[in-house]
Amino acid sequence: MANEAATLIPLSAVDPEMIEQLLDRVFGEDRHARTAYRIRAGMSWLDALSFAALDEDDMLVGTIQCWPVALIDGEGRPVPLVMVGPVAVIRERQGEGFGVGLMAAMLDTEARLVADGQPPLAQVLIGDAEYYGRWGFSAAATGGWRCPGPFESHRLLARGSALAAMPSEGMLGPWMVEGNP
Ligand SMILES: CC(C)(COP(=O)(O)OP(=O)(O)OC[C@H]1O[C@@H](n2cnc3c(N)ncnc32)[C@H](O)[C@@H]1OP(=O)(O)O)[C@@H](O)C(=O)NCCC(=O)NCCS
Repeated sequence: MANEAATLIPLSAVDPEMIEQLLDRVFGEDRHARTAYRIRAGMSWLDALSFAALDEDDMLVGTIQCWPVALIDGEGRPVPLVMVGPVAVIRERQGEGFGVGLMAAMLDTEARLVADGQPPLAQVLIGDAEYYGRWGFSAAATGGWRCPGPFESHRLLARGSALAAMPSEGMLGPWMVEGNP
């Protein structure tokens, strides 16, 4: 259940240095070598889908970031999707519902954008199915997907109605098209 004392704000309202410090605390300073970082290398996080959680004292305790990425099919065609993560909650406040709140804020916003006419995009992440399964993330569609670095296939999870139309095979990478940074 989401933490009811949490305040969720757009991540863009938080000092970027504080975000980096939180991520270093949760994942370690070597986090940049992770495959998830390679998938979205060079991208900026998606403003509308990235949030911070503040506790009852307005201290930053968690963040979620989403990124524009693509699955490149066998013919080199990029199919856009959203990469979710990292979802990070500081160790001292884990298990109190901040993570669920951050995920809910992201998914509610995504649903609203689609209701407003934005085309639905599949979402992908590398994480525990035991945690992310509650939101429909599963490895069922990703068996033929590859990543630019080591990953465990049972932890490459995706969700969303757009998944049905995604290629069954392809390589994940940054969403590099003309006009995209
Ligand atoms: C994973 C993480 C974001 C979850 O946030 P959180 O605020 O601790 O989690 P919440 O309190 O919102 O959710 C708690 C629930 O998730 C479950 N849970 C937490 N981590 C889990 C995991 N790795 N696998 C399975 N279940 C997990 C708890 O058992 C609890 O279940 P319940 O709701 O049935 O009681 C947080 O623990 C974290 O930052 N972990 C380290 C970084 C990480 O692994 N991030 C995810 C990869 S990007």
